[in-house]
Order: sequence, then structure tokens, then C-alpha cells
Amino acid sequence: MTDSGFIHRKADHLRIALLPESRSSSGTGLERIRLEHDSLPDLDLESVDLRTEVFGIGLATPFFIAGMTAGHPGADELNDRLARHAAKRGWVFGVGSQRREIDTAYRDSGVHGLRERHPELVLVSNLGIAQLIEVARQKKWPALREMLERSGASALAIHLNPVQECVQVEGTPRFRGSLQALRELCSETGLPVLLKETGSGMSRNFLERIRNLPVRALDVSGMGGTHWGRVEGLRAGEESMERILGRTFGDWGIPTAESILNAVDAFSGQGPAIWASGGMRNGLDAAKCLALGASRVGFAGTALRVAMDGDEALEKWMTTVEQELRIAMFCTHSETVRELCAGKKWSRV
Ligand SMILES: Cc1cc2nc3c(=O)[nH]c(=O)nc-3n(C[C@H](O)[C@H](O)[C@H](O)COP(=O)(O)O)c2cc1C
Repeated sequence: MTDSGFIHRKADHLRIALLPESRSSSGTGLERIRLEHDSLPDLDLESVDLRTEVFGIGLATPFFIAGMTAGHPGADELNDRLARHAAKRGWVFGVGSQRREIDTAYRDSGVHGLRERHPELVLVSNLGIAQLIEVARQKKWPALREMLERSGASALAIHLNPVQECVQVEGTPRFRGSLQALRELCSETGLPVLLKETGSGMSRNFLERIRNLPVRALDVSGMGGTHWGRVEGLRAGEESMERILGRTFGDWGIPTAESILNAVDAFSGQGPAIWASGGMRNGLDAAKCLALGASRVGFAGTALRVAMDGDEALEKWMTTVEQELRIAMFCTHSETVRELCAGKKWSRV
């Protein structure tokens, strides 16, 4: 892929992900989850404590911005805005795919200034599984380590996107060797690894197969929000096969709520931290994910839409999301995030 091809594709993704047609028509499953109301919480709203820990770092909230854009013209301003607010409010910040930066020719990436400008930022780097397999095959570990160091990353996310790779015109649906590459990655870089989906969720069989990998966190990124089969279908020409594939597979995946429960069942609190994203709209969605057993909740499409409207809109939205979670915790009698996660305070409706 040429540099200009990469930049065009990423610009297309930003533009198309904002369209309502890019969202899965199935829900997240959270609409069928009800949090248990408590009429007499023995708490004050102001004492509700959103603080959490991630990779040994204390943070003010259990939220993250899920990886969307890495350094490319047109996205740097957006990334900087999201990073600035994330750093200020104690949200983890994921960048989008840094595949281009493994090649040292692209040292100018906008990602590399983010930590310098926002030193408190907890930044998660990002690479696709297909690129990781290439890194492992070509033994490019030193280049990967250098890229992570330049980014000032606290962790590396490896994204899993089989549907997207199959529908994308330039996709690389070649995942053979992925478990071996992940095993090597965990020993080749000292950083925590986050394994993330991209909006199609995680099944029990998959979770069983990765059971012995030393990954520190899993973002189940389930169905119910941005759908990458749809985005790639809409990117393709109107008469193309890929446009049809995008429609056929436009609701392929496992909803976010079900994906969280699959991960909780698979690891029973013993394995990687469970993060949740995929279709999150507000702090009440986030509270439900935490109650189901996730320990961190992330926003991609929703955060993107708000960030496009500028700093003030983003500040207001993040404050609102935090307050929504605080209220849900107060009304379920949960003083800490841990109490909400561990208390079985939900039922199905
Ligand atoms: C514009 C855009 C670009 C994205 N690019 C990446 C990427 O480069 N790497 C990645 O791991 N996920 C990427 N994602 C996927 C998100 O991290 C997330 O898993 C997915 O969109 C589902 O969350 P949502 O429903 O909140 O959008 C992207 C999402 C959006 C909206």
C-alpha cells in the first residue's frame, strides 16, 4: 500500500464512519439489560468514586477512547483534541493503526508528539493482526519496539478485524500464524498487550483458543455500533461486489453485551482485564458494561461525532458521560467501580 493510498483510505474511514448507514442495525444487547435500582443508597452522589487503575497507573475514570486515527494529514488535529481531553480527564487514549510507522520512513507521524504535548496521557498504540504476522515473519521486532518507544505508549493494542479485511477492496484476510505471532509479541516487547476486536465481538470458542496467551487486556468491541463490513462496503464502488458483501455481512458479529458475558465466563476473573466497546452512546451504557463484568468502557464512533464539533462539545459530552455513570452508580448503591463490577446488579428484561 502506497502512502497516499493509506491516507485516502483512512480519510474515507473517518468520513464514512460518521454516516448512520455505517452503524449495525442490531443493538448492543444492552437494551435488554436493566440495572437494579436501589431506593436508598447509603451514599452521597459526590462520594461516588470513578477512579480506576490501568496497567499499574491510577486514572480518574474507567473510560477509554477506542483507537481510530493515527498520524495522517487531516486527522492530527482531531487526534490531538481527543488526546488533550483524555489526558485532562483521566481517560485512556487509543490511537488508530500505526502500520505505516513500523517503516522508519514515516517517523513524522503526528502520534509521536502526543505524549510530549500531553505528558499525563495513557496512550495505547495500535497495529492490525495481519501486520503483526508480517512483523513476526520478517523479524521486525526492533522496528516495532522503536515505534512504541517513539509513541510513548503504555500498551499495544492488536486489532482483530476479519470481516473488515474480507470486505475491504485492498483487504488482507490472511490470519494464518496469528497465535504464534501474538505469542512472540508478548515476549518481544515489554509492554502490556491489549487484544481488541473492531465492532464484531468475541465468541466463546475464540476466547477458549486465546486462553493461554499472556495478553493483559481484551477489548471485546462488540456489535451494535460502527460496523466495519458496512464501512468497507460503502467505501467500495456502487456496482462492486464489495458493496454487496458489505450489505450481506452488515450485521455480522456478536453484540457487545453477549461478548462481555462470553469473556466473563471464559476467564472467571482470572485472566486478562475485560474492556468493552462497540456501540457505546453514553455513561448509562458504560455502567451496564461495568455491571456485566467489564472493567473499562470505550467509545469510538460516538466520540468521533462529538469531537468533530469542537473542544466545547467534547468537554461537555465527556463531563456528561462521567455524570451519567456517577448517577447509575449512586442509584445502584455502588460507591466504587469495583463495587459496580462485582455486585451482580443487573437483570435481563
Ligand atoms: C473512524 C474510525 C477508525 C477506526 N480505526 C481503527 C484502527 O485503526 N484500529 C483499531 O483497532 N480500531 C479502529 N476502529 C474501531 C474502533 O476502535 C472500535 O473498535 C469500533 O469502531 C467499535 O466501536 P464504536 O461502535 O464505538 O465505533 C476505528 C473506528 C472508527 C470509528
